[in-house]
Amino acid sequence: MSDRTLSAIDFKTCLFELPKVELHNHLEGGAMYPDLALKLAKRNNMELPFSDEATAASYYQFESLDQFIDILRTTVSTLNTAEDYADAVERHGIEARRQNIRYHETFVTYGLVASRGVPWEAVVEGLSEGQRRNREAHGVETAFIVDLDRTLPEEIALEHVRLAANARKTVDIVGMGLDCQERGWPAGRLKSCFELASSEGFRLTAHAGEDGGAESVWDALNNCHVERIDHGVQAIEDEALLTHLAEKQILLTVCPVSNLLLCVFPSLEAHSLPALVNAGIPVCLNSDDPPMFNSDLVNEAEVVYETFDFSQQEIVTMLRNAIEHSFQDETGKAALLSEFDQVRDKYFG
Ligand code: ADE
Ligand code: ZN
Repeated sequence: MSDRTLSAIDFKTCLFELPKVELHNHLEGGAMYPDLALKLAKRNNMELPFSDEATAASYYQFESLDQFIDILRTTVSTLNTAEDYADAVERHGIEARRQNIRYHETFVTYGLVASRGVPWEAVVEGLSEGQRRNREAHGVETAFIVDLDRTLPEEIALEHVRLAANARKTVDIVGMGLDCQERGWPAGRLKSCFELASSEGFRLTAHAGEDGGAESVWDALNNCHVERIDHGVQAIEDEALLTHLAEKQILLTVCPVSNLLLCVFPSLEAHSLPALVNAGIPVCLNSDDPPMFNSDLVNEAEVVYETFDFSQQEIVTMLRNAIEHSFQDETGKAALLSEFDQVRDKYFG
């Protein structure tokens, strides 16, 4: 790659044009665009704490991960039927197409809706229909990762793994993950779920080191044997962990704007991203729950470029890392990498 620097407008064009992959975007929070949330609420005869874009923006204000998850548990009550799920998945597909994201792995946390009695069969039907719409109408491949809510009792979490394993006849579920409140809910508590998921052939990842410390990342690695870490930004506390992540080339799916808005760091400038990259750890950029953080993948890339001292080529490498470390099959990955490199070389060759 040359060390050429594009103008801001050309770089933006390049960011859009690159065929991209996003690995860390939640179906539930990531579909809560005010218009869609209001449509779903109306369909389900329920009221939301906001009535339009402006009031949603003032509702989507957060002071911590725990408080964010509480808000998420409210808005997610708009998801009840297969049609609701299909519309949510399709909205992800539409937003992906707009940014030329060709393949994305979307987290589905059944724990967020199971306690309300939403049947798993309805969720699966909706995921499958949404996946079909994205492929056929939007040219986007959607794969799912079923995330276990960290706060679930082990027996229920085990049942969610079994449900996910059975659903693979109908829908493309490539992995098992872990999310929701982190502090006070060690990953190792659900070790048996990850053992079962691994024996079922799922690829493994976990949210860790978001607001929990470096020991939470070790916990996910040592007890759940995950291949990737979602967030992982607190790894910075522990030199030995940084070395381990770099040696094993464990990808961190970093979500800078989410981390800022959930007060994980006091400012973007204080974010650990540059230190993680300097330690040799592969990272990719992600939008987490884009409508709730008023972001998207291209915005994350621009914000990171504007805030830190990274070259444009380094930002492009972060986008490429997502393709390399995805849970897609090798053929799909190779095709996307080759197309990505052609566009990259057009700008930076
Ligand atoms: N669910 C949705 N977004 C999340 C996040 N940032 N951390 C943990 N669980 C989540
Ligand atoms: Zn997340």
